[in-house]
Parts: sequence; structure tokens; C-alpha cells
Amino acid sequence: MARVKIDLDRRLGIIDRKVYGMFIEHLGRCIYGGIYEAGSPLSDENGIRRDVLEASRGLQPPIMRYPGGNFVSDYHWLDGVGPEEKRPVRTEHAWRTVETNEFGTNEFIEYCRLFPTEPYICANMGTGTMDEAAAWVEYCNRDDETSYAKLRVEHGFERPHKVIYWGLGNEMYGDWQVGHKTAEDYAKDARRFAQVMQATDEDIKLVLCGGGYLHWDRIALEHCADLVDYISYHVYWGRVPDQDPYYSNLAQPYASEQYLKFLWYLIQQVKREKRVNRPLQIAVDEWNVWYRTHGTTHIEERYDLTDSLSVTIYMNMMRRNCQAIGMACLAQLVNVLGPIFTSQEGMFLQTIYHPLRLAVQKSGPIALDAFVDCGTYNADYSGVPEVPYLDVTATFDESAKKLFVSMVNLNKDEAQEVDLQVRGGDIGSSGIAYIVTGESPEATNDFGKQDVTCQEQPLSDASAKFTYTMPPMSHVLLELEVT
Ligand code: AHR
Repeated sequence: MARVKIDLDRRLGIIDRKVYGMFIEHLGRCIYGGIYEAGSPLSDENGIRRDVLEASRGLQPPIMRYPGGNFVSDYHWLDGVGPEEKRPVRTEHAWRTVETNEFGTNEFIEYCRLFPTEPYICANMGTGTMDEAAAWVEYCNRDDETSYAKLRVEHGFERPHKVIYWGLGNEMYGDWQVGHKTAEDYAKDARRFAQVMQATDEDIKLVLCGGGYLHWDRIALEHCADLVDYISYHVYWGRVPDQDPYYSNLAQPYASEQYLKFLWYLIQQVKREKRVNRPLQIAVDEWNVWYRTHGTTHIEERYDLTDSLSVTIYMNMMRRNCQAIGMACLAQLVNVLGPIFTSQEGMFLQTIYHPLRLAVQKSGPIALDAFVDCGTYNADYSGVPEVPYLDVTATFDESAKKLFVSMVNLNKDEAQEVDLQVRGGDIGSSGIAYIVTGESPEATNDFGKQDVTCQEQPLSDASAKFTYTMPPMSHVLLELEVT
């Protein structure tokens, strides 16, 4: 029996809804053949795949990052605006392919408006210049006689797009990145880019490119902490070679959490040293399970139940760390590591779709500090000595008077009895349990086959102290009435 105690007054903070964000890149079949397929009977008159849009809406993304990823470090945005027949077809160096530029900034903004979701554009700091980044801000955001604002109007967009969120380059630390830089070079350039972009529109918010290691992150922060609102962190994980494929995959979100805690303390330290007062949070603006197709350019992971549980734990973890994490974007929305998978004839929902939908639709804004007493296993190979068999995040919607308890039973073989106690409010007897599980860790979905789904179970015996039994390898989200 595991024990979970939740006190409605013990609050960790407010969860920024931007942690439920998504990312789309000009990569593989994410945009072309994913969200956009001109001429398809499944698309609208603008080439937007209607079926994909509808499934994406289920994930209610509050923010969407674009256009890369590695792609952006070699992308010149002017190629992708204006009359389609005049747009150049270019060699694309990041993924060694060809970019037609059919889809560009304005198509992206129009796509965001269909949700609606907040656009977040990452600037090219690889082959791009400060001028080019500032011109992109001017094109999107200015409402005056400046030349790029006028160009936008000429292109048919009278009103400014008002893109608030801008990234200062993507993964500039990696030698896979076109135009990668040393930490010092990046930090100096990022400061210059930030200054000129902010001088173009002072309302924008900037995401500094983090490195996922302390040397880079410290240098970047030391140079730019007074100008930026976020520092990015990217994480991809999966099974660890030579370890149990199931348990090692589920341990990785805890390994990532360790780094995020270091980074959060580093942010406080640099802010103190540099006497910076403005808020500065972490943007986990690429995250997902990715190991089967890592190192290839055809990165279409077909997810299984293990991955679905791992994604749930990661989402739980981010919300427990809501003070530190102010934004997150799942990489990526469709096909490329996507919860949605298409063919020219249709689409299906991958296993990871279900916890992502539940997380955004069945949660409250307040993160609660759940006490969990349960067994653990050791994942020292990833630096995590104690991985709990039961992962819990509780959220509270005070105005709707609802408590949401998101739980993962990591145990592959045994059901988990959970003794749940709630303090600080009474719990009504009726509620709903949403259950995501499957027959085996490898259970997967495909066209016409849904082996991992989300089942709903009405509860009639909930109370401030009750027992719920979770199946092995399952995610259960309890929706409870606070009376
Ligand atoms: O999401 C796929 C790729 O992973 C992105 O282009 C890059 O930023 C990261 O390495």
C-alpha cells in the first residue's frame, strides 16, 4: 500500500499554462505532410490538414514554437514570406534536404490563430544576423511606416502579428548546429541580438539558448540575465543501453529534474551576483522521448506504453517544479516525435497523446505539495538512487472546486493500492478516474489499432480518505469534487 497525503493549503505555486506548449519544425513530415498538406482531400483551402488540427486542438497548446530546431540556424525568414511563386527553393543544411518555403511566417501565424495559441519564434543565430532578427521582429510586430512592417501589409497582413515570445537561437552549443559557437561567443552575440530585437519592440520576451550543462548556462546567464525572460533547456531520453528498457526509460525524467534544480539555483545565483531583479524562468522548449531514431534524419518514433508513462512522469515533474519552469514545448506536434501520426489517408493518436491531453484538460492552476510514501528502485546508472514506484502530482482548481491527482504506477508487474488522504477541504463521493494503460510495456497504437487508450471510470466512493487500486504500469488521473 502506498500513501498519498494532499493538503489543499500546501501549495507549490501557480503552474504557467505555457508548460503545455508544442513545437513545430521544418523537419521531416512535421509541417509538410503533417499540419500542412496542400491538395489533400483532408486539407482545407489553405492546405491545413483538418484532421490534424482537430486532434491538435485536443492538446490545447497555449504556445507554439517555430520554425526550429536545428532548421532555424540556417533559415532566412524572408524566403518564406510574400507571393508563393516567388519564394526560393533552398538547400537545407541542418537536415540535408530541400526547403520549398511554401510554409513560412504568415502561414505559421495563421495556423496559431486557428487554435488560438501564442506564437513563439526562434531567431536564426547560426547563419543569421542581428539585422535579420530585428527585421523579423519589425515585420511581425510593428504597426508603422517602417519598411518591414509595410512589407507585411503588402503581403496581406494589415494588422501586426504581435509575436511576444522570441528565442535567441537554437542549441548553439552543439556542433550539429549550423553556425554553432563557443559559450563565450554565443553569450556576446545573444546580448547584441537581444538588445536590437528589444529596441525594435520593447514588449517582446526573450528566451536565451541554454546548453543543458552548467558551464554554458552560467556564461550565457552572466552576459544576458538582465535582458532575457527565460533560459531554454532541451531534453530527449529513452531506454538506457544495457539496462532494463522499461525501468531505465521511466527513471530519466528524474535525472532531468536534477539538472533543472541545478539550473534553477544557478539562475538565482547569477541574478544575485549581477543584481538582476527581473523574473527569469526555465523554458523546456524541446522535450520528449527519443531514442529509436536518434542520430537519423527520419525521426518518426512510434511510441509505446512505456513512453507514454515516461511522458506522464515528465509532465508531472514539470508541474511540481512550477516555480522554475515557466514554459515547455513538446517536440514535436506531428509525425516527428509526435503524439499525432499521419499518412496521406488519415491519422492516429500515439500512446503519448493521452497523458498530454489529460494534463492540459484535467488540471488546475495550483500545484500542491503531495506527500508520497511508496517503494523505490535504484537507477544509479543515471544518477538517480531512488526512483519512486508511484509518481504523483496534484493540482487544484479553486474556482471550479476540483482536485486533480495525476498518478503513475511505475511497477511493471504489480497493482498499486493507493491510500489517498486529502486535508483542507471535503471531497464529494462522485468523481472520475481516467486510466491510461495497456497489456505490455510495448503496447502501441497504429492506424486502426488503439492498444493504449484513455478509459473513464466513474467513482462513487471518493472521500477525503479513500483507497484506489491502480493497475500495473498505468497512469490514473483522479478528478475529484472539493465540497
Ligand atoms: O526536435 C528535433 C531536433 O532535436 C531539433 O531540431 C533540435 O533542436 C534538437 O536537437
